[in-house]
Amino acid sequence: MKPLIIAMALVLAAPLPANAQTHPRTPRDLRQLAQQNGIRIGSAVDLTALREEADYRKVLNREFSHVTGENAMKWESVEPERGTYTWEDADALVANARRHDQKVRGHTLVWHNQLPAWLTTGVEQGTIDDAQLRDILRDHITTEVRRYRGKIRAWDVVNEIVDDDGAMRQSIWLTHLGPGYVADAFRWAHRADPHAKLYLNDYNLEWNSAKIETTYNLIKDLKAQGVPIHGIGFQGHLGIQYDYPADWANVMRRFADLGLEVAVTELDVRMVLPVTPEKLATQADYYRRALTDCLSVSACREFTVWGFTDRHSWVPGWFDGEGAACLLDENLAPKPAYQALLAVRRS
Ligand code: XIL
Repeated sequence: MKPLIIAMALVLAAPLPANAQTHPRTPRDLRQLAQQNGIRIGSAVDLTALREEADYRKVLNREFSHVTGENAMKWESVEPERGTYTWEDADALVANARRHDQKVRGHTLVWHNQLPAWLTTGVEQGTIDDAQLRDILRDHITTEVRRYRGKIRAWDVVNEIVDDDGAMRQSIWLTHLGPGYVADAFRWAHRADPHAKLYLNDYNLEWNSAKIETTYNLIKDLKAQGVPIHGIGFQGHLGIQYDYPADWANVMRRFADLGLEVAVTELDVRMVLPVTPEKLATQADYYRRALTDCLSVSACREFTVWGFTDRHSWVPGWFDGEGAACLLDENLAPKPAYQALLAVRRS
């Protein structure tokens, strides 16, 4: 053999360097993309699907390093009857997460929706007075946070507490407990798990300036009072029929400058049906921009989508004529949005 041929044969026979086979710059999935960029990419989880659909389970556990129960930890799910706790779904989520190196977002402790009927009718009918309501809320927070102490990275302590017009949202909490319920909720949660990151979570915070101002001032006040609040969650329920919220990264930065951690907690990008290739391309661009925005803010640690497959998405049930909001289609095939995310890098 001629020397050149020998040399070539040696090169071909030599084992590849450890990183050559996997091309570290081109992640093979969202979990690797997240790892390469120093964040966690998460998904909301449908517990029935997790239990019953092997393909759903496989993709969830392969792709995601953070999870949120879509409904499993809400009050009506965990205490449907007064004093009767049903932790099966929440426990299953946390157990699955531990097995697959997934951090968990607890969602959510104080909200105006998905409250158990015993609570709302009790308040309406006056069988639960204001002092009792306060005790009930404290017990709820304490019981749930304690149960998962050390197993929940971040809790959405309060959810959607500011209205689109910038006023504090009218809810049984504001009406019966007064605005101090917010500080109380954070203090109770902190006592129950001093290591969990405690978040305020809301929608339209990506762009609505009335909502942003009120929320910003509220958090500033809470911090000044020494209330343990550590994070701001941007739900990120977007739709391609609206402009992409171009100022989002700046809004994230403003909150980060208050000393907060930032997370995208419920991203999805819906469209008016039917699906077309053009709409999918626009959707891909919105997902790409959202991740790019998060990665441009060093305080942004988590990027969670509100379900990863169009097979299980809240959108068709809540927005008439809209759908196809997720990264994978109903057969779990990656859509252009999934590919677009894989190409994003921290700039
Ligand atoms: C939604 C769930 O996806 C649905 O399954 C449920 O019927 C209603 O709630 N903001 C939130 C989430 O904080 O908890 C909501 O989840 C979507 C809007």
